[in-house]
Parts: sequence; structure tokens; C-alpha cells
Amino acid sequence: MKVLVIGGGAREHALCRSLSLDPDVTALHCAPGNAGIAEVAELHPVDALDGAAVADLAQRLEADLVVVGPEAPLVAGVADAVRERGVPVFGPSAQAAVLEGSKAFAKDVMAAAGVPTARSYLCTTPAEIDAALDAFGAPYVVKDDGLAAGKGVVVTEDVETARAHALACVGAPPAPSRQRGSVVIEEFLDGPEVSLFAVTDGETVVPLQPAQDFKRAHDADEGPNTGGMGAYSPLPWADPKLVDEVLQSVLQPTVDELRRRGTPFSGLLYAGLAITSRGVRVIEFNARFGDPETQVVLARLRTPLSGLLHAAATGTLAALPPLRWSDDAAVTVVVASHNYPGTPRTGDPIGGLTEVAEQDAPGAYVLHAGTKKDAATGEVVSAGGRVLSVTATGTDLAAARERAYRALGRLTLDGSHHRTDIAARAAGES
Ligand code: AMP
Ligand code: GLY
Repeated sequence: MKVLVIGGGAREHALCRSLSLDPDVTALHCAPGNAGIAEVAELHPVDALDGAAVADLAQRLEADLVVVGPEAPLVAGVADAVRERGVPVFGPSAQAAVLEGSKAFAKDVMAAAGVPTARSYLCTTPAEIDAALDAFGAPYVVKDDGLAAGKGVVVTEDVETARAHALACVGAPPAPSRQRGSVVIEEFLDGPEVSLFAVTDGETVVPLQPAQDFKRAHDADEGPNTGGMGAYSPLPWADPKLVDEVLQSVLQPTVDELRRRGTPFSGLLYAGLAITSRGVRVIEFNARFGDPETQVVLARLRTPLSGLLHAAATGTLAALPPLRWSDDAAVTVVVASHNYPGTPRTGDPIGGLTEVAEQDAPGAYVLHAGTKKDAATGEVVSAGGRVLSVTATGTDLAAARERAYRALGRLTLDGSHHRTDIAARAAGES
């Protein structure tokens, strides 16, 4: 199978790594990719947001499968453009990707499908905002109703901070995927968060193993929200019935509702869940693999990835045998640039990559996010906020954690920061 992956983060590096180890994959391409992906796939300098250019590339490469990684190309209709050319594509249509692109749409789908989520109000005026903030009380949860790369959500004890964010959301220029100037204000959900991914062809839903992400920038969940600073899987503390329960109460009803509306969702349905004292609640849906959770979920998947994604892209998931998983645990730790998640500094050289790759750190490997090869020096340098995702497996979380941090210790990146407590609690270490 010839596969083309769209995107260039650590999630896409994880996808490419699994595909490069898959015996059914005969050729692997990526656009635009990064310095790490270049080691396992042929890179193509094509704009991931340009549907026609991606479809042209897929046809020229005679790709049997296109896998779209990030949300922005999905919302921009890149999967539709590829599908129109008759090339199987893993990723939802622009219409179905609105499940991620608009919080208000997601709430509407959940209400219709009877999916448990936080109670919420969609507000467009200052009076509605004040009424909603009053109704729920602190802590306040205020969400921009559009794609905001995880930065549109404010959770705060301070009503003035909540009000200011809500007013900024309704005053901001409207993105194409959202209603004019709207903000979602919702009840605070207490309890641990779980990311559960499911592969679906629009009808059959195949859940993957759950993972936990660490959203705050600093140890002990301090500091600003980020795209994710680390992840682990499995979740030793979770109820073994969790995946089945979420399949029945969340994933299947959501997929069924989108099909009923005439906008079937095929690709990766990501449920961000809160395990509250009153049961499981959906915090958000995403229309693509999560980053960095993908790094740990794929590290444990034994079923060849190409067959799974191709079955989703061609509507044949019902015939796929049950997924196989490793008993190993996996941990990934993100190395972020100086000043991430603010305006990150880029262009710093990254040291130690060869040492880790040459198995100086057994069981661990480095997945690249924002990296590129400096044209003049040939050095790998930072090129984004999240730079590397150091991933390791082990017989349990403590072993995986130890390996990941040992490998991370070999790497150098001036001014970088990372969390030291990824999976520590779950491993029984704090
Ligand atoms: P979202 O973009 O909706 O995933 O929100 C980003 C983060 O904000 C989530 O991962 C949670 O940590 C937090 N968050 C969002 N909604 C809620 C909520 N209703 N209650 C508590 N925390 C929330
Ligand atoms: N790690 C969170 C996300 O991918 O949205």
C-alpha cells in the first residue's frame, strides 16, 4: 500500500513511524513533514491546507491511502478534495469536522444523540454572558466557539477574567466555521480527564486504548494551557469497562447522529472525557488523532496501522478482526521551546538526537514536532512551540517513564522546558 500522510507534527511522526514498520506499506510519503519524518518517509513541500495541491500529489504518487493528521486541513475540506478524486482518505469531510470546529455544533449533536456532556449556554450578548456566568458560578468555563488550537478555553475562579474572555470571543471577527461572535459558557466538570480515540467509517466504531494528556505547561498542572505536554497509556486507575461504556454512551450515538444528519463522520473521532463523580461526561470532540496521545496509543498498537486506517477510509471496518495491543505501557514527554505556549523562540540547535537514535537509550525514541534541517549547516533546529516528543515503552508505566526521561536527558535544546511529572501519579510515584 502506498500511503501519503498530511501534516508535520509529532502526531504525524508517530503515524509515519508506525506505517514505516507496517509490512503492508510499500511506499510512505508525507507533506510537508519535518526533519524527523524525513528519516522514514519521502517529504513533499505541499501546503497541507491546499486541497487541490494535496489531491494532485496523491494522484501523482498513486497513493492508495491519504491520512490527514491535523484539524485545520480537515476543516478546510482537504479530505473532501482527495475523496472527490477517488483516492481513499482517512479523515472526515469538512462538514463532519465541524464537530471539532464548532463547540456549539458539537453540543447540538450531543443533545440530539443523548450524549452526556457539561450543561452549557451559547451566548452572543453581554447580558447573556452575565446570566450564564451567574447560573453556573465558579469555577467558570468559557469557550470560544471556533478552532483555537486549545487556546480558546479559559477555566478560572475569577469572574472578571471569565467575563473578559467571553466578551473578547463575541467581539472577535467570526471564523468561517462558527456562528457570528458566539461563546459557550458551561458548568465545570471535576475529575480526571481521559482521551479516547475511535476509528470509524461512519457506521462501525472501533475504539482504541485510552490515554491521558497533560494540558498545563508546568508540573503539578500549573501554568497556561498548551496543546499537550505529555501523555501515557494504559490508565491503571481507570475502570476496565470504561472503553465499552464510552462506546455505547458516547462514540456510537455520535457517529449514528452524524450519519442520520446526512454528514457521516469517517476518520478519527477523539472524545475528550471527564470522569466525574456523576459519571463520564464529554468535554470536547476532536476530528483527528490527539497530540501527544497518539504517540503512546500507537506505541502499543500491534495491529498494522495501514489496514485499520484503510478499512475506515473504504467503509469496511465491520470486517476487520479485533485490534491487538501490546501489554507494555507507553509514556511520552514533550520538549517545548523557550516561551511556549506564548510566542516560542525557534532556530535553536537540537543536540543528542543521534545518541538516542543509536539506542543509547533502549526502548525510547524521539518523535519530532517543530523541527527542521537548517539548510546552511545541516543541523536539526527547533521550528515550533512543541519541538520533540520523547516516547518510551516498558513493562509498566514506571519503566516507560524512566526510559523516556533517561532519553530526554541526552537531548539538548537551549531554553527548552518540559514537565517532569508525566505519568508519575499513575505509576505510583507521587
Ligand atoms: P477543550 O478545548 O474543550 O478541550 O478544553 C481545554 C481544556 O480545558 C480541557 O482539556 C480541560 O482541562 C479544560 N476544560 C474544558 N471544559 C471544561 C469543563 N467543562 N470543566 C472543567 N474543565 C474543562
Ligand atoms: N492533546 C490534545 C489534543 O490533541 O487536542
